[in-house]
Amino acid sequence: MSNNNNNNKDSKLNALENSKQLMSLLKHLKVQEQNHAFWDTQPVPKLDQVIEKNGPIETKTLDDVRKEPLSLPPQFEWSTIDVNDHAQLMDVYTLLNENYVEDDDNMFRFDYSVAFLKWALQPPGYLKQWHIGVRVKDNKKMVGFISAIPATVVVDKTENIKMVEINFLCVHKKLREKRLAPVLIKEITRLVNLENIWQAAYTAGIVLPKPVATCRYYHRSLNPKKLVEVGFSQIPANITMSLLIKLHKVPEATKHAFRPLEKKDVPSATLLVQKYLSKYSLAPTFDEHEIWHWFAPLKNVMDCQVLTDAQGNVTDLFSFYTLPSSIINHPKHKNLKAAFSFYNVATSIPVAELMQDALTVAKNNEFDVFNCLDIFENNQFIKDLKFAPGDGNLQYYLYNYSTPTKKSADIGLVLL
Ligand SMILES: CC(C)(COP(=O)(O)OP(=O)(O)OC[C@H]1O[C@@H](n2cnc3c(N)ncnc32)[C@H](O)[C@@H]1OP(=O)(O)O)[C@@H](O)C(=O)NCCC(=O)NCCS
Repeated sequence: MSNNNNNNKDSKLNALENSKQLMSLLKHLKVQEQNHAFWDTQPVPKLDQVIEKNGPIETKTLDDVRKEPLSLPPQFEWSTIDVNDHAQLMDVYTLLNENYVEDDDNMFRFDYSVAFLKWALQPPGYLKQWHIGVRVKDNKKMVGFISAIPATVVVDKTENIKMVEINFLCVHKKLREKRLAPVLIKEITRLVNLENIWQAAYTAGIVLPKPVATCRYYHRSLNPKKLVEVGFSQIPANITMSLLIKLHKVPEATKHAFRPLEKKDVPSATLLVQKYLSKYSLAPTFDEHEIWHWFAPLKNVMDCQVLTDAQGNVTDLFSFYTLPSSIINHPKHKNLKAAFSFYNVATSIPVAELMQDALTVAKNNEFDVFNCLDIFENNQFIKDLKFAPGDGNLQYYLYNYSTPTKKSADIGLVLL
């Protein structure tokens, strides 16, 4: 009887999984068939274009760039955000907290913290005018946001391109499907072009013309009971909760003597990360200032730990950022605490041991789940460390730069 039940459950789960996959396939096919009234006007490759060479799609000069802001509908106005002003930063936080990315079933919504936003928006060389909001003229309520930060990205190991990373595109739920997003994208493009920068990198869950790479999220349960309670994961057939918990136990102490990154580590950590990133076909370069900005441990934002050799040089490094999600309408749990894998380099130990220790640190800091993409050499540990595939894909894009499509394992860039 119980076997039968389990078989039924199995086939139901399989059918559910198959229909989910089918739905997602149909959704993607639908997107591919769609005309893109906005993106078809932009310097990005067409979805069916086969690309063989690297290079910009269009070349413009400063004279070609419009000097005035794009027009908005009359009830709205542009607002440059000073993220060092707490009230303005709170406006951005609140817009994102209430309206930013949700999963397909609208159960979870990213909840980037105030400290995270301040950090993510102000790397070395950031420009205040690249943090732009849209407000309602009457009451100044923020209803839209987009940002750019400077980055140097190397494409196919040779092309060193000064570009921006675009992030935090958000339109208030009540103003969706009114073509506000293209206005935000065109305005940030104009402001970036005014600084003589013509390329951008960005990621999205949806398929647009045209992904450089299609990557997948993987999730490692650290608190399986809560993940099941909130509907983030399901108990597989044939398994009890106590077995599920046992299966996902991680060692209480790290195997290796990792310690938090310190300022004195910056020169050797920079060399280590630079050498590591040079293996990938789409990867940033970081100078010492950028390494310290992005990797310095910051409570509830960035964890980075290292091993050093006898000379004090960093030989191994793991890092992850803190990005909780609000749990929408759950009677018991309000937040899911997620760690997102950032950059990891293992030279004196196997990468699986490095990541095992990262999981231990995350577990000891009460993270519920540890996420990573199938980029870098992550496939070397994903299975053994019991990461499970997520529902959706993350697409990587370049603006005004065509390059042959890449495999996820060729990607060495993490966007927050
Ligand atoms: C993404 C978001 C700003 C789009 O706004 P919208 O009101 O749904 O769409 P609009 O009517 O303003 O604009 C539609 C156009 O924007 C494009 N678009 C939608 N989401 C996009 C994205 N994430 N990146 C780039 N372009 C996007 C659409 O493809 C469409 O252009 P097309 O006709 O050429 O295909 C909005 O849905 C939102 O805030 N979602 C939650 C946060 C989020 O997902 N942000 C993006 C993170 S990558």
